Amino acid sequence: MKIIYDPLELQEYLKNRSETIGFVPTMGALHEGHISLIKKAREQNELVVVSIFVNPTQFLKGEDLDSYPSKNEADTKICKLANVDVLFFPTKEGMYLNDEVSLLAPKVRGYVLEGATRPGHFNGVLTVVIKLLNIVRPTRAYFGKKDAQQLNLIMLMVKHLFMHVEIIPVDTVRDSDGLAKSSRNVYLSPEERVEALKISKSLHEASKLVSRRELNSRQIEEKMREVLAPLEVAYVAILNREFERIDEIQIGNTVILVEAVVGRTRLLDNIWV
Ligand code: PAF
Repeated sequence: MKIIYDPLELQEYLKNRSETIGFVPTMGALHEGHISLIKKAREQNELVVVSIFVNPTQFLKGEDLDSYPSKNEADTKICKLANVDVLFFPTKEGMYLNDEVSLLAPKVRGYVLEGATRPGHFNGVLTVVIKLLNIVRPTRAYFGKKDAQQLNLIMLMVKHLFMHVEIIPVDTVRDSDGLAKSSRNVYLSPEERVEALKISKSLHEASKLVSRRELNSRQIEEKMREVLAPLEVAYVAILNREFERIDEIQIGNTVILVEAVVGRTRLLDNIWV
């Protein structure tokens, strides 16, 4: 596995390659969720590139940028074991200048749900993702469905900016008790981890109602909020795949999303029905 730190060196290394390239952008602290993205990339492409970069522009003031879990050595081993061809470890200075062009998330879709609790977050995500995609120029790039709004906005960016890359959504990986894998789960105390299970339980409740053909969004949301109580719920949202609110579940075209705060940790989860 080749490790590259400099964006220009990576660009040069990948330039004029004839192989298909699968790209998995990450912020490190790799877990089974990331490994499933890498596996998918490995299955579908001749060359696999993974990036590890804790992108400062997507953190708001007072968020966990400085304490974000960093496990570079363990991550490198994981990538080797997962047969990654190139691991890209850029620095902040390599990725950003002081005064530069950046990208703005759409004014509505970028500022609802997680964008409402973290205004400006998606500007940073889209800016770094377009930089990374331009450096790697992959055939396909892999993103988890757990960050459904991020995935939706990246797909919009690729469409609106006429970019040549296929975005591949990958299913959420869960612990055996249902908790969605997230690098931020390490912040949870044992008691908080138990509380956090209310999030996946609320989604399980929603999916039970849907399977009984109880499809009214308001009623599903009420039942979910009962399961989530007394957690601080940032939102429960029932949307179609275009990310528009819907009054009734449309099977095959719906995402049910939750964001809740457990202790001091914001956790996201969703199901696609
Ligand atoms: O989902 C993440 O880990 C990050 O938001 C991403 C896509 C790597 C951009 O920094």
